[in-house]
Amino acid sequence: MPPSDIAPRDRLIVALDLPDVAAAEAMVGRLGDSVTFYKIGYQLAYAGGLPLVRQLADAGKQVFIDLKLHDIGNTVARGTESLARLGATFLTVHAFPQTMKAAVDACAGSGLKILAVTVLTSYDDGDLDAAGYRLGVTDLVEVRARQAQALGIDGLVCSPAETAALRKITGPRMSLVTPGVRPAGTELGDQKRIMTPGRAISGGADYLVVGRPVMEAADPKAAADAIVAEITLALI
Ligand code: C5P
Repeated sequence: MPPSDIAPRDRLIVALDLPDVAAAEAMVGRLGDSVTFYKIGYQLAYAGGLPLVRQLADAGKQVFIDLKLHDIGNTVARGTESLARLGATFLTVHAFPQTMKAAVDACAGSGLKILAVTVLTSYDDGDLDAAGYRLGVTDLVEVRARQAQALGIDGLVCSPAETAALRKITGPRMSLVTPGVRPAGTELGDQKRIMTPGRAISGGADYLVVGRPVMEAADPKAAADAIVAEITLALI
């Protein structure tokens, strides 16, 4: 399905950033039909949460495994093959050519799609310079987006501020998935460059990843519904 045909509710990916499986299962139960897509990252995956991927997929949910793989090609390929058996929709890898190629080849025919993280949003030009990179953030993001496109990567994780520029590089085929989304009036937490759900979607994002504004809401289900309503309005 092209990203433009996705239903508003399926564009909200709720990050299950919780300490254990029991807390995650309780949250999924509270959210019910309001949420169709979940993200499982380091915290839950390394606390025994990977079997939840299959459990959620069997319950009709989509799952995004956010483990940002990066290793030698053979190791990335074998890891991707194992993860592809869990029934997830998305898996993240870092946008290094060998890593992206290994993951794309390994998931062929499995239904799993690979998202590349171009440059972590916590890095600035100084961090890249300290790590020995020649390019600054803007140029490196662009180089890696072009490489991802050429290698057949399905989508990019990017900040809401980058979607317009990246869309020009990727064309309509690739999905743009953005964290850093905050409904008006909610806590920023450690996110600095944020956008409201409506503005992120109007700006070209296909999927929004939202964690704390749903996890920490007094009524998580109502918070998720409000975000979906805002996505719906932005798509009209
Ligand atoms: O709680 P919050 O809405 O900030 O959660 C955002 C989620 O997206 C977290 O799971 C975080 O790991 C992830 N993420 C991010 N910034 C990135 C990439 C991923 O916040 N650049």
